[in-house]
Amino acid sequence: QAADIRLVVDADQPGPVIHRNIYGQFAEHLGTGIYEGMWVGPESRIPNVRGWRKDVVAALKDLKVPLVRWPGGCFADEYHWREGIGPRSKRPVKVNTTWGGVAENNAVGTHEFFDLAEQLGAEAYVNGNLGTGSPQEMAEWLEYMTAEGHSTLAELRRRNGRDKPFRVHYFAVGNEAWGCGGNMRPEHYIDLYRQVATFLKTPENNRPLFIASGGNDQQTHWTEALSKGIQWNFDAINHHYYTFPSGKWEGKGSAVGFPEAEWISTLANTVKVDETITKNIAILDRNDPKKHLGLYMDEWGSWYDPEPGSNPGFLVQRNTLRDALLAALHFHVFHAHADRVRMTNIAQMVNVLQAMILTTKDQLALTPTYHAFKLYTPFQDATSLPARVENNPVYKVGATEMPELSATAARGKDGKLYIGLVNANANQPAELTLQVGASAPKSVHGQLLTAAAMDAQNEIGKPAQVTPLPFDARAVDGRLTLRLPAKSIVVVAVEG
Ligand code: AHR
Repeated sequence: QAADIRLVVDADQPGPVIHRNIYGQFAEHLGTGIYEGMWVGPESRIPNVRGWRKDVVAALKDLKVPLVRWPGGCFADEYHWREGIGPRSKRPVKVNTTWGGVAENNAVGTHEFFDLAEQLGAEAYVNGNLGTGSPQEMAEWLEYMTAEGHSTLAELRRRNGRDKPFRVHYFAVGNEAWGCGGNMRPEHYIDLYRQVATFLKTPENNRPLFIASGGNDQQTHWTEALSKGIQWNFDAINHHYYTFPSGKWEGKGSAVGFPEAEWISTLANTVKVDETITKNIAILDRNDPKKHLGLYMDEWGSWYDPEPGSNPGFLVQRNTLRDALLAALHFHVFHAHADRVRMTNIAQMVNVLQAMILTTKDQLALTPTYHAFKLYTPFQDATSLPARVENNPVYKVGATEMPELSATAARGKDGKLYIGLVNANANQPAELTLQVGASAPKSVHGQLLTAAAMDAQNEIGKPAQVTPLPFDARAVDGRLTLRLPAKSIVVVAVEG
């Protein structure tokens, strides 16, 4: 007889606050992520506000998107901000050399991006161009966005329709400097960062947090070098972590129609994000013991083989129940490291990689990942609480194994105790008792996300297969038992 599984929450031992920007998003000039997916232009027959699709913005507002990163990604290191201001008809048309070689007409530039952020009520994260830009170009972009007085650049911004400065919350110096951002070694990047950062000046009340471009996957040497080598205008190091079913860049695996072996390999690779975060934080704890620096996981999510028939440079992939669990497992890890992980961005917001929303012409579908983000909104700015699963079974398929259950807990801003749970087992339901401190609560109330198939999805024009359902449980004889279906996420508020 297996021992009882218990979820134990220490409600009187509050941990760090889970920064709402852990639920940040990423919108790059890539495929139909911005153009078509979100931006249709003011002249479009698709209903829009100043060019941004009303339906997409409304769905993202419901998600309480706290932060948007723009314009890339790899695109950022080829983006020249001056080409994206002024009358749109006069902006140069370039080739998006990184993503599909398609025309980039610069219709979305600085003013359009901030309009989107303001429509969403989200903070703005601007990624500067180190790869093909210059210190002067980056410094002048910041001046254009933030200057209050009557400098030529501030007046140019006013002529382009914006009197008050834009509020820039975060600014990154380059992206993936180890790869598409210039194939640099950390030593070279550090010297460039130090040079550029010398000239990144803004009014004090509009100073962004400055981000250095860090490592990838399980790497640690970028965090080690950057945290020792950079000195000023330096608030965080970013780190990217993508999940491939195969664990390999070549032959990543399919987004749909996969066997259970790829279900578990994907989720087992997902929880390894904990290892990289733990290792990189250990370095920061040594080199930055006062905990000034954040570790921002500003690109994460699933990455599959491209959708057959699509432009491989557009990174189009289906989004299934597996992606929803993958997102929830990330949230649990991020919450556990909330003192350093103060911002993350899923890649990406619409139509690209693990998107929230898929669009075709004037239609849209909310993906399973969208619903996972929605379920976890009470965790934004909540205070994390220690939560442990006792007697957690091992879920095993072939040679791959992982803990079957994953849990997180926090005290929400509304004072309620929230719990998030994932049952990764594709076949077996799980039953666990809930204990808060020494006692069993009276009841829980919330939502469940599951579906019949591992690759259930929400396709445009078809009934959605993955939508949240109500989830309730009451204590019986002083014992509160939660019954989680196979392959499910449950988020509940605890009562009593
Ligand atoms: O999100 C897609 C790409 O992945 C980004 O542009 C790049 O930073 C990363 O390699």
